[in-house]
Amino acid sequence: MAYQGAMASYTQSPTDPDFVQNPYPFYERVRAEGPLHDWEDYGMPAAFSHEAVNAILRDRRFGSQCPPELAPPVPAHIADFHRVDDMSMLALDGAAHKRLRGLTLRAFTSRRIAGLEPEMATLAHTLVDAFPQGEAFDLIPAFATHLPAIIIARLLGVPEDMAPQLLDWSNTMVAMYQARRDRTLEEAANSAAADFAAYIRSHAEARRTSHSDDLISELLQAEEAGDRLTMDELIATCILLLNAGHEATVNTTGNGVVALSEHGNAPHWLTPDRVEGTVEEIMRHNPPLHIFTRYALEEIELYGRHFARGDQVACVLGAANRDPAVWSDPDVFDPSRPVRPNTSFGAGAHFCIGAPLARLELRVSLPILFQRCPNLRLAEPPRYADLYHFHALERLMVTV
Ligand code: HEM
Repeated sequence: MAYQGAMASYTQSPTDPDFVQNPYPFYERVRAEGPLHDWEDYGMPAAFSHEAVNAILRDRRFGSQCPPELAPPVPAHIADFHRVDDMSMLALDGAAHKRLRGLTLRAFTSRRIAGLEPEMATLAHTLVDAFPQGEAFDLIPAFATHLPAIIIARLLGVPEDMAPQLLDWSNTMVAMYQARRDRTLEEAANSAAADFAAYIRSHAEARRTSHSDDLISELLQAEEAGDRLTMDELIATCILLLNAGHEATVNTTGNGVVALSEHGNAPHWLTPDRVEGTVEEIMRHNPPLHIFTRYALEEIELYGRHFARGDQVACVLGAANRDPAVWSDPDVFDPSRPVRPNTSFGAGAHFCIGAPLARLELRVSLPILFQRCPNLRLAEPPRYADLYHFHALERLMVTV
């Protein structure tokens, strides 16, 4: 890490092995110097304090979409990826974002989500039943991945036997959001996006005639003031829900199992009266998504810095969540601490619409896991994958 002068500028490769394993010491050093600094490796300023991350995510003068006149042309080899990605609500601002988010929320209701709780519990028990006994195994595929992947497939009404294929498309596509990106990875993401879109299109076309009460059917019907999703918007929304609907939850489950195992006495922290606070502390202490970026949509002065239209800024959620201005001993995993809003689900216009679903999955699955497996132990030190901006375990070998 190099520090250069008053308007601080830092270098820190996001693929440096030590950083990948533990990015928090870097965050701490930089945050101690002030809320916003240039992160050379990204070629943009980054916000590290809780206050600054929150302020930027809530500031409508910043947006998720590059101003069109400044957007670089999309290279042909990732055109299919962008056709899907650029149309998703995550990439839109203002009225276009509000419209897509509003129509999606008409189908993605809290009643529908709460209704999934018994299914989640049954699924968690079934997965625990199948754990190998007497030998170490990887808890990520055996438990963490399965539950959110099956639930989101069921919610959308996509056949469950498609889950492995959906996971494959999703993993290949979301690799586009990590710092380490190359041509091979881009081409794979592009063809995954094309295949995924073709699949959802044919599935949704079939649903038009054979109605069901799943989310895809609801999205086809969702209407607000005579307005409906187009087929391309529906495809982009379904792919976003399928991808966002499991990746981060898988990694939070993994990070949570590590924290609870290392902290000890897990069942105590997962009783019905404590589980909510424990899940929030898991989310705060070691979130699965560490960076989201925004574009300045106009001239902005912020934290002594001038932004021209189109300038980018990174919001480091992982750093904001350990800001000592908000949490005492922020590096300590302490499920008993009072819950204060953290930034793991974002803030402002793009605040995660899956937060109630993710929270419910974690509140249901973690207690079942630790009650059913009171002897759960890590079989090796956890290792994080070289996938920053994701903070995701490579594997999680355990014995039960
Ligand atoms: C622990 C699990 C999860 C975490 C940590 C997480 C985190 C986030 C974050 C940080 C954002 C905001 C991104 C931004 O501001 O640019 C976001 C947005 C979003 N998330 Fe999640 N998420 C999780 C689970 C889910 C689930 C289960 C779903 C859906 C089923 C979901 C669907 C979405 C969608 C659709 C958006 C875009 C909202 C918008 O642009 O208005 N997420 N999520």
